[in-house]
Amino acid sequence: MSFKSAALAIVGSAALALASALSPADAQTVKIGFITSYTGQNASVGAMMDQALNLYLKENSKNLPAGVKIEIIRRDDTGPNPEVAKRLAQELITRDRVDILTGVIWTPNAMAIGPLAGEAKTPFLIMNAGTSAIINTSPYVARVSFTLWQSSLPLGQWAAKNNLKRVFVAVSDFGPGIDAQTAFTKGFTEGGGQVIEAVRMPIATQDFAPFMQKAKDAKPDAVFVFIPAGVQATNVMKAYSDLGLAKDNIKLIGPGDITTDEELPNMGDVALGAITMFHYSAAADRPANKAFISAWKRDYGANSWPAFPAVQVWDGMQAIFDAINAQKGKMDGEKTMEFWKGWKFDNSPRGPIMIDKETRDIVQNEYLRRVEKVNGVLANVEIETIPMVKDPWNPLNQKK
Ligand code: PHB
Repeated sequence: MSFKSAALAIVGSAALALASALSPADAQTVKIGFITSYTGQNASVGAMMDQALNLYLKENSKNLPAGVKIEIIRRDDTGPNPEVAKRLAQELITRDRVDILTGVIWTPNAMAIGPLAGEAKTPFLIMNAGTSAIINTSPYVARVSFTLWQSSLPLGQWAAKNNLKRVFVAVSDFGPGIDAQTAFTKGFTEGGGQVIEAVRMPIATQDFAPFMQKAKDAKPDAVFVFIPAGVQATNVMKAYSDLGLAKDNIKLIGPGDITTDEELPNMGDVALGAITMFHYSAAADRPANKAFISAWKRDYGANSWPAFPAVQVWDGMQAIFDAINAQKGKMDGEKTMEFWKGWKFDNSPRGPIMIDKETRDIVQNEYLRRVEKVNGVLANVEIETIPMVKDPWNPLNQKK
């Protein structure tokens, strides 16, 4: 060995020694990019998701492997704005070098992020957006929330079996609304029901009177509604009440976004009797849910209710923590995706859940619920369970 190469070897090994002295702290900070709507449409849902994230970290950070830290980088997509979401995801990937992207309320935003996640091989775990097709934007997308097909197809089947003959459909005019309409129509018409009219409503509208008036005039047995959860749900209920549809015996049905738990206290008794199919109810008496609700109320107040987006963040963080533990904090995108395929969690507040091995989509119970009063407050009371429902859209659309 020449003097020069010996010197280089010494410098090299010193550098290596330095690197390994530094690496435990550096290499073992797992970076998570968390995108939600802190402002704009449905900022209340974004705030709830953030509360769930904080509660999860408070209760579970002790479960990380020794020496592994987690850094959450929060970003505001300002509502359904795919351009903003795309820019944020790009920055999180290239500048912040996150190990995992997550959050995301809105389908258009998730559609924009999916392909970027695929190019960068950065796992993207969806904590809300529910349009079935998002999962196919890249093999680096997995979902821990729900799909509209999962709830609306069985609700259509239930409606046909339960003496509803003619239904008026009103949905927000974007991905999840279109999925809800298509899935409900399939389940309902195959069971012998008739969709007498379907209308699409602007994504951001707060004025539902024109649509409810149309529904009332059509004299259906029920009106099926999808709107994004949040204050819009209360405004739907207000229009349904103001225009007297309940008095005309027109039932209100839909996926659980229309009776979202945190808004129920604002809706008033007109919500009583609304029938929804969904994957989570704050009123459920499963022990895991009781523990979740009591931790929530301890930290956020006796009158605060977590709804499905909070539980999706809670469970999503569990999937992320499990992946971190499996890799002892040394995160690899491909290994994370492999780990999530078939991942199971039996102790979710919503009941047992898993991520399907092939589709990377959530598999979970769907609950038929009716709004009733429990101890004087409105609640989505579970009355039937359909166990471990897979997204019905993917198999239907994979067939050539
Ligand atoms: C969606 O954009 O996929 C979405 C948003 C709000 C919901 C449900 C779905 O309540």
